[in-house]
Amino acid sequence: MKIVILCDIHGNLPALEAVMREVRQNISPDAVFFGGDVVGYGPWPGETIDLVRDVMTAGVLGNHDAGVIGKVDATDYYDAVRYVINWTRSQLSRKQTDFLNSLKFIHVEEHFGNFLLSHGSPLNPSKYDYIFNCRGVSRLFEVEKFLKHINFIGHSHYLNLFLLTGDRKTIELSLDTGEVNLASVMGYSLICVCGSVGQPRDGDPRSSFISFDTETKLLRVHRVEYNVEQTVQKIKSLRLPVSFGERLLHGT
Ligand SMILES: [Fe+2]
Repeated sequence: MKIVILCDIHGNLPALEAVMREVRQNISPDAVFFGGDVVGYGPWPGETIDLVRDVMTAGVLGNHDAGVIGKVDATDYYDAVRYVINWTRSQLSRKQTDFLNSLKFIHVEEHFGNFLLSHGSPLNPSKYDYIFNCRGVSRLFEVEKFLKHINFIGHSHYLNLFLLTGDRKTIELSLDTGEVNLASVMGYSLICVCGSVGQPRDGDPRSSFISFDTETKLLRVHRVEYNVEQTVQKIKSLRLPVSFGERLLHGT
């Protein structure tokens, strides 16, 4: 079976629409999973929720989503983020808010493959710790027995693939060629950080996401161009913080 994992969409509807065109035309997956943060930063929170709800098989709650529905304390977030979280709350219908409330901190998939999905580190999913490097991954040895062979996460907006080895070491596997066959590392736990549809931060403004074939074990990185300027202009017209638009132009 082929599956797709979409993370960190952040109310960027043109990005999600472009990604879904690519998914339908060139991947035709059996299931689409959502790795958290459908809202926050971006100017189309309600429309983005509606599209995610329509295409998603299962998903998890991101920290911005949780801030909107009061499941995390957003008072520590910086002013511009807090402003957009409050603005987002005011834009959502009851049905859209109910959708956010229906999402859990962690999802264990057993039908379309067997994997774990969380927004931040699976060490404690409601705390939303980031995983950027092997040091962050090594803390997961504390909970290794709860991990699956593949554990998909989001939150950092980067693309990374880490392996927890049998001798309690961690290794980062390169995703530079755009695909990795995981058949040779079956039996070890992998942490796949799935990039960001709506706000990539690795210097490439194109949307990023992951697909995985549960039979061939081929994991692929996808990059998709979308109309960034449309999102930048919408952010300006709604008088949302302009920095949230400008960063999209550079993918930072
Ligand atoms: Fe995010």
